[in-house]
Parts: sequence; structure tokens; C-alpha cells
Amino acid sequence: MSERGSDSHTEGVIDQHHSDAPLNIGVLSRAPEAYSTKRIVEAIRDRGHQPRVLDTLRFAIDLSERNPELFHRGKRIEEIDAVIPRIGTSITFYGLAVLRQFEQMDVYTPNTSNAVASSRDKLRANQVLARHGIAMPRTTFVQNRNDILPAIERVGGAPIVIKLLEGTQGIGVILAPDVKVAEAVIETLHSTRHNVLVQEFIAESKGRDIRAFVVGDRVVGAMRRVAKPGEFRSNVHRGGHAESIDLPDAFAETAVRSAQIMGLEVAGVDMLEGADGPMVMEVNSSPGLEGIEGATGLDIAGAIVDHVASRIVFPDVDVRQRLSVSANYGVAELTLNDGAAIFDRADTVGDLRELDITVLTLHHDRTVIPHPRDGRPLHPGDRVVCFGNLEVLRTLVPKRKRRERLPEIKPLETDLEPTS
Ligand SMILES: Nc1ncnc2c1ncn2[C@@H]1O[C@H](COP(=O)(O)OP(=O)(O)O)[C@@H](O)[C@H]1O
Ligand SMILES: [Mg+2]
Repeated sequence: MSERGSDSHTEGVIDQHHSDAPLNIGVLSRAPEAYSTKRIVEAIRDRGHQPRVLDTLRFAIDLSERNPELFHRGKRIEEIDAVIPRIGTSITFYGLAVLRQFEQMDVYTPNTSNAVASSRDKLRANQVLARHGIAMPRTTFVQNRNDILPAIERVGGAPIVIKLLEGTQGIGVILAPDVKVAEAVIETLHSTRHNVLVQEFIAESKGRDIRAFVVGDRVVGAMRRVAKPGEFRSNVHRGGHAESIDLPDAFAETAVRSAQIMGLEVAGVDMLEGADGPMVMEVNSSPGLEGIEGATGLDIAGAIVDHVASRIVFPDVDVRQRLSVSANYGVAELTLNDGAAIFDRADTVGDLRELDITVLTLHHDRTVIPHPRDGRPLHPGDRVVCFGNLEVLRTLVPKRKRRERLPEIKPLETDLEPTS
């Protein structure tokens, strides 16, 4: 990284990573003695790489046009190939700034600052997940006291769950037994400038939830957490205990999609077992390792390090930022509605290419086809993410119809059995 900007530097990097040279992997953590940090360090060392624990709050961030730099304990950071961020909720602001700086320096991180930021805010995360069709408990967010009661009724009435937007470990999650208590609690929290989500109580999950640990595009371990008697929150910090489970496909799929939607390559996805299948509550960007490794006996830290080592040559690229530099070109997502203008001019991916539009991914039914071939037909209902001439793209976008409310979908019931 010291020779940033020269062409030979780029070549050097490629050579280096194509060989099996040991990698320098930084672990951003304030707690070198914490179980998760120690296990990641161990896994890095086991694989012949060089770990370095870096205290997130001991960085200085130097900005400049050409040479973004970081100093750790006063020493310039050089030759770090990747960082694994473990950013506690109490230092989100500074941690994200440090992580963003590593991104400016083209250092790979499995979880980018943007992804961590979105997942930290429960409202923002739920908005993004809901937008992509991930099932979740009915949730509402209000500010004015006059809107509280109607909102509670809309999500199903009492008992009702109230959540602080940035709570963690079960702290800040309240079950209000009746509407009056709920209203009083929400008003009180509002009066102390706390923002809260109001959420349908999923009684059938009976104080249990499922944590699926996602690395890359797969679940590498899963556990069920069971609340202690008399408690509805299953967090281990609230006295819950964990057991290993065989994760049904519906839960694995939902977990992986949720992590992908949030842009996290390492994530702990918390799901309730709703009557109709998985309901996502939370996607954690710094999921703890102790519970999941203890419950499953699996080397989750190793899975993280293997993933990082395999992805290191591809730091995250903000596609919109990078590809929109030429005037009139950009990335857009189109839903190919039945009868849309596009079908007058294109039946296949190749027809779009003729129109100066490259399809990056094609979403057909429930499958995603990356970089589809020219012969691939386009069907009504498909979604394409494409790069191309925005003028042309505009002419293909159908008039926006008023969004209709979708009917509730009832997926198949799933039965979960503990394996141990
Ligand atoms: N809507 C809900 N219905 C039933 N139980 C819930 C609901 N929301 C949360 N819980 C329980 O409370 C726990 C903590 O909620 P969560 O949203 O994950 O907050 P935290 O970030 O503090 O862990 C969950 O693990 C789950 O057991
Ligand atoms: Mg949780």
C-alpha cells in the first residue's frame, strides 16, 4: 500500500495474491482477550497467515486526495491485505469511520462500512429487508403521540413488542401486555428522545429463536436459542441457552438472502419461527462466535478466515459510484412488467445489448442468473439489473403503476427438530 498510485504497484498486488504468500489480516477489535477475537486470530494463524489485532479507537484517520492513510498507535498502517471488523455498538461511529478509511485504501473487508451501518439501525435494516420481500413481524414506527394507538392496532394489538432502534443483547426489547401500558412506555421513551419500533408479538415462537451464521453465500452454522423460563427474549445475555439444529432450507435461504440484501458477507441472522416459516428480526454484522461454536462444535472462525482469504483480491466496489462516471451511463434495475415498452424492442438479453445495455443479473422467478448469455429470453415479471445508456433505459421503463397492496403469502409450514 505504500506505493499507491504507481502502476507497478497494482501488478505487484496481483502477483502477490496469486501466490500462496501469507496474508496480513487485521482484526478490528477493542477486546483482544474476547473469545471471538481470540478465535479469529487463532484461525488466521492456523492457516499460515499473519494476524494483527488493531484497537479500533487507536486509529488516526488522515484524509487526502491521493493518499488516504491510517495510523494505529501513531504508526502508519502498511501492508494490510484485509480487515475483519468486530465493531461493538458503543463505538459504531468511530468504527465505521475507520472501516471506511480501509475501504478508501482498497483493503478488503467482508463487511463494508455501509453494510454495517444499515444493519445497526433496526428501522433502516427492516426497511431494506421488507423492500426485498423478507418476511418479518409486522412492524411500525411513529413519532407523534396521536399516532401511537392506531399504529399498535395496525400491527395486531396487545401484547406488543417495543424495541429501541439501537438496542442489543435483548436490552431495550420490551413486551407490553396491554395497549395502555404500551402507549405509556412508548410515550416515556419518546420523551427521553429514544426512537422505538413497535412490533407484532410472535407468540408461537415461544421464547425461541434461530441464529443462522452466514459466511459468504452459505450458512456455516445454526443454533436455536431458548429463553429462560418466564422470559420471552432468547438472548444468551438474558439467560437463554443455545442448542444445535439442522437448519431447514427455508431458514437457510432466508438467512443467506437477508445477509446478501444487507451487503454483509459475515452475518448472524436472527429469525423467529413463525407459523408460516422464518421471520427475520435482525441481521448482526459482528455476530459473536462463542455461542455458535459452543452449540455446534464447528470452526466458524476458520470459515470466516477462509472466506476472507478467498475474496481478498476483490475489495468491494460501489458499482453505482464507479460505473456512473461517464455521463449518461449508469446502473439501473428494471422490472419487466407485462406489456412494458421493453418487450416491443427486446426479447432476449442479446437484444438489450444491441440497445447499448448490458445485463448484470437477471432475476427470474426465485432464481438469480448472473451475467446471463445473449440468448437468454426475457419474460414478463423478470427483473434485470443492468448497466447502460440511461437515455435508452428511460424509454424502456414502463409508466409507474400505483403500487398495489400484495395479498399475504402463506409459505409451507416447517417443523424444526433439535439435533442434539
Ligand atoms: N416480535 C417478536 N415476537 C416474539 N419475540 C421477539 C420479537 N422480537 C424479539 N423477540 C425476542 O427478543 C429477542 C431480542 O430481540 P432482538 O430484536 O433480536 O433484539 P436484540 O438486538 O437486543 O437482540 C429475540 O431474540 C427474540 O427471542
Ligand atoms: Mg438479537
